[in-house]
Amino acid sequence: MEMRLITAISFLWISFVLGQLPPEIEKCEAGDSICIAETVTRLLRLYPKGLPSIGLQALDAIRFENVVVSRIEPNSPATLDLKFRNLTVRGLEGATVMEAKGFDGELPRVLELSAWVPLLKLEGDYEMHGSLLNMPIQGKGQAQVVVKEGRFRCKVRALEQLRKDGKRYIEIAKVKCLLDLQGMHLNFENLFNNPELSDAMNIVANTKWLEIWHALRKGIISTVDRLVETILKRVADKLPYDDFYREL
Ligand SMILES: *[C@@H]1O[C@H](CO)[C@@H](O)[C@H](O)[C@H]1NC(C)=O
Repeated sequence: MEMRLITAISFLWISFVLGQLPPEIEKCEAGDSICIAETVTRLLRLYPKGLPSIGLQALDAIRFENVVVSRIEPNSPATLDLKFRNLTVRGLEGATVMEAKGFDGELPRVLELSAWVPLLKLEGDYEMHGSLLNMPIQGKGQAQVVVKEGRFRCKVRALEQLRKDGKRYIEIAKVKCLLDLQGMHLNFENLFNNPELSDAMNIVANTKWLEIWHALRKGIISTVDRLVETILKRVADKLPYDDFYREL
């Protein structure tokens, strides 16, 4: 009896340490890109607060510190310094994975994930100065940015890592994403240290959101790269690549 208990506990412990998909997640055959897209979406729906056994962090609120969106540098066209001292991203748990290409066995390769996110909310303490759309701007305070209907397409360079447990893991070498969106709503509080001016400026900014998006796109996308890389690296580190697929 005692022996059985010990065996059961060690089994649980080993499966926890190795990283296993929970039984309610049906595994896919390698290369079945539709099944893989659905499975990843299902994981996000079932575990918005994360799933530590596979290294999945809570996607309903992801926190960052020191996010530089734009920086004035010599030899760069940027005219704005904009950074967030802290930033919380909410809404990623609502992502639907549309496509998962390249998940078919052999590594190294480039994996491609496309996802649609209906509403993404970013909130944090910002600091900015410089000029935006040829208007001088400066401020420091809280900011909220809402991204509507974002379409993400990320390419992930995945290397193979054979570990001591005899299993193959993915090593994420690089993540590069594209992002398209249907709308953006900005609210930067305390611009020019003046509430009336700040409100007026935010109204102007929101009528010109598309231009602002184009002006800041590069920095926003590199923040997205960092976000996706952080999430994927944790899962890749915990869940063996071999255990992701159904055995044939
Ligand atoms: C950012 O930091 C400030 C000050 O420490 C805190 O009040 C605020 O709640 C934080 N915001 C986010 C979104 O983490």
